[in-house]
Amino acid sequence: MNTSTKTQNLPPLVPGKFLLGNAIEMGKDPLSFIYQSYVKYGSVFRVKALNRKMTILAGPELEKFMKKGDQKVCPAKEYSDFTNALADSEKSILSMTGKEHLQLRGILTPGFSPMIILNNRAEIIEAVCDQVRKKIQEGNPVKVIGLAQRLVSESLAFMLTGERLPDIHDQMAYLFREALKMYMSKTTPTIFRHNPSYKSARKDVLEFMNRLNDQKWEEYQNGAGDETDLMFRLYEGLKKYPDLLKDDEIAMNALIPFTGGLDTVANTTAFLLYYLLNDSSLLDPIKKEAAHIVDVTQELGLRELKAQETLFCLQMEILRLHPIAGLIKRIAETDFEFGGYTIPKGTELILGTSCTHKMEEFFPNPEKLDIDRHKPPRNEYRQRAFAPYGLGAHKCIGNRISEVTIMFIVAALVDNFEMEIVPKDWKLKVRQIPTLCPTDDFEIKFTEKTKNKQSLKLKHDETI
Ligand code: HEM
Repeated sequence: MNTSTKTQNLPPLVPGKFLLGNAIEMGKDPLSFIYQSYVKYGSVFRVKALNRKMTILAGPELEKFMKKGDQKVCPAKEYSDFTNALADSEKSILSMTGKEHLQLRGILTPGFSPMIILNNRAEIIEAVCDQVRKKIQEGNPVKVIGLAQRLVSESLAFMLTGERLPDIHDQMAYLFREALKMYMSKTTPTIFRHNPSYKSARKDVLEFMNRLNDQKWEEYQNGAGDETDLMFRLYEGLKKYPDLLKDDEIAMNALIPFTGGLDTVANTTAFLLYYLLNDSSLLDPIKKEAAHIVDVTQELGLRELKAQETLFCLQMEILRLHPIAGLIKRIAETDFEFGGYTIPKGTELILGTSCTHKMEEFFPNPEKLDIDRHKPPRNEYRQRAFAPYGLGAHKCIGNRISEVTIMFIVAALVDNFEMEIVPKDWKLKVRQIPTLCPTDDFEIKFTEKTKNKQSLKLKHDETI
């Protein structure tokens, strides 16, 4: 009797296959599955994937809840397991909660100013072109995901080193990918952490992180550096909250731009390139905008960057259609009410933060790529229902950095190279693990534009 009353009070369970539950749908296209279940069952329902049961919260109801009640949920254990796997530190901005999280976020926020990327425009564009040339030499066509990650690393490194990235990218990309598979998507057994390549990559990344922390600390003590430097912000802030982080937890912050930004920005850029290269009505105006963006003789501020409307709106549309982190794992910190049900403390939750991206009421004809929806007067990206960067206290702190980075990378590519998807008729396929992105067979053939070849030759002749 008791059991049946309890069951009736649970949110509906989405029917699934024997033993597998909803594992197939969740593995294939989780956001669409969650949206379809939302339409059928409402803002709260349960799913089962193999032996795990999760409660899903979604829709505009979730957005309202996160505005007020977000302290009732806390980051899932996966977040601290992930950072622990990377750097023996469970405490990171992503895994911390309450007052401590607010303090650390307050300290770090100026270190996420988009000005850091804007002020290094010439260097970033040069780094992007250099990397593409290297990749062309290694073999053409080029695998897009690997290249995009490399370009993003180069750009985000300016948040930390103020200069080009030391030779650590490959180890970092490998380490993050494998750690995500073990601790976030849980698709690789954790025994893999004893694999020699994994251990060696981890050792290299830890050394990089500690070296950078030592170097920054020394510069900070000597009174060097500027106020947007991420590590300087941290040291300065810790004077106010000396107990916030232990010594060995401080160095971990040197990885934040990469843990937060590497996959998210690279995958978004890759999706963007796919649509761009398949549609001349996008490519033609973006060629003009790119020439403007890469012209380093002219000042370029955030407002002007945003005025490069086709590229900006295309980016918003990619974030809407392919939100890389559109589902977020949480645990109920306390009992709370949602959608007419009591969610008990300790419940494993998935927040479908980007489920609203698929709703006709917010984004008419939602499955269609339509950049005009983000132009005035529609400005659909300004609605709260547009949430590619999450909702609540942990909402992305790197969103502006990301937007500028993507625009610089795409502008540098379009202005300097002819690009062609290989084979020409390749159709977009996506993979979900460890993060949502086009499949690895997405390749582009790059040809350097003649103007560059000439100017390179001139430079070469000058040096002779
Ligand atoms: C397309 C690009 C990006 C997307 C889609 C994205 C998405 C997100 C999302 C959904 C969250 C919330 C996670 C949660 O609540 O569990 C988040 C948090 C975060 N992101 Fe991003 N992100 C992007 C780029 C970046 C970049 C470039 C950086 C760093 C430079 C960054 C750093 C962070 C950090 C540090 C947090 C944690 C904030 C906190 O816990 O207070 N992100 N991001």
